[in-house]
Amino acid sequence: MNFNPLSNKNDHLRASFWDKYANEFVSIRDALSSHSYFNGELRICQQFLTFPKKRGRFLKLDLWNEVHHTPLLDLIWKNYDEVHGLDIAPKLVALASERLKAKKIPVKTKVGDIRKLPYPDNYFDFVYTMGTIEHIPQPIDAMREIYRVLKPGGRAVIGVPNKFEWFGKSIILDVLADTGFKEDGRELSYGWKDLAVELESCGFKVIAKTGPYFMPWFIRLIDWYLYQKSPRFKYVMWPFVVICDLLSQIEFLRSHGSLLSPVVQKPKK
Ligand SMILES: C[S@@+](CC[C@H](N)C(=O)[O-])C[C@H]1O[C@@H](n2cnc3c(N)ncnc32)[C@H](O)[C@@H]1O
Repeated sequence: MNFNPLSNKNDHLRASFWDKYANEFVSIRDALSSHSYFNGELRICQQFLTFPKKRGRFLKLDLWNEVHHTPLLDLIWKNYDEVHGLDIAPKLVALASERLKAKKIPVKTKVGDIRKLPYPDNYFDFVYTMGTIEHIPQPIDAMREIYRVLKPGGRAVIGVPNKFEWFGKSIILDVLADTGFKEDGRELSYGWKDLAVELESCGFKVIAKTGPYFMPWFIRLIDWYLYQKSPRFKYVMWPFVVICDLLSQIEFLRSHGSLLSPVVQKPKK
């Protein structure tokens, strides 16, 4: 389908674009580098998005991971009273809901747009999104919506690609998108400074700057490609992924990896 998620304004086509992409995508849930990513996501949620005792409302934006990648909700749902998940792609939402239901995981899923969240003001204690808002023309629209649905004092993690990834990831991804190898097209990316400015302009206070993991793009890409094409060779990448896992223990490296993950708070009144 000829659709550019960063310039096309047709939201019906946007939903079908992601459904089609999801339908053709070979899941990378068990690629070695996905485990590193997953561990990083869990670390962030445990460190920043939990109350001492199980309670609160949690919203996860995009349900891609629940179908194809790092099924975060499978592991963290028990930490909250109520868990919600939203994605624009109806078939993907149906698949994620089926998977969660089969595992008896009580998540309230919805089809919706991150730029117009179908939830009341001041509703959630926590919002988590990693690798979603860079796929829309103006991510600030989603940031404003996340701010609106958070309770005062509530926290969000809003993960986006790092424009200054040390190995040139954002340039390579643009080339891959423009030559048709990256089928979901171009995506936006940020540096810490411009990201903080946008988040603060929405009213957020940035309380931590972190990231899920430290892994140069070429290791991630080779691991991903190998896993999709020939999963039996996945252990070829094992030494490289282990080194990245060790480096990911260092907060400074994580926060300068491929995904910037600011932890933000909506000020208490
Ligand atoms: C590239 S995938 C997400 C990758 C994933 N979060 C990860 O960590 O690998 C993009 C996801 O965002 C969803 N999405 C794109 N635009 C959206 C929008 N405007 N509102 C809600 N979901 C959207 C897509 O349907 C898709 O599931």
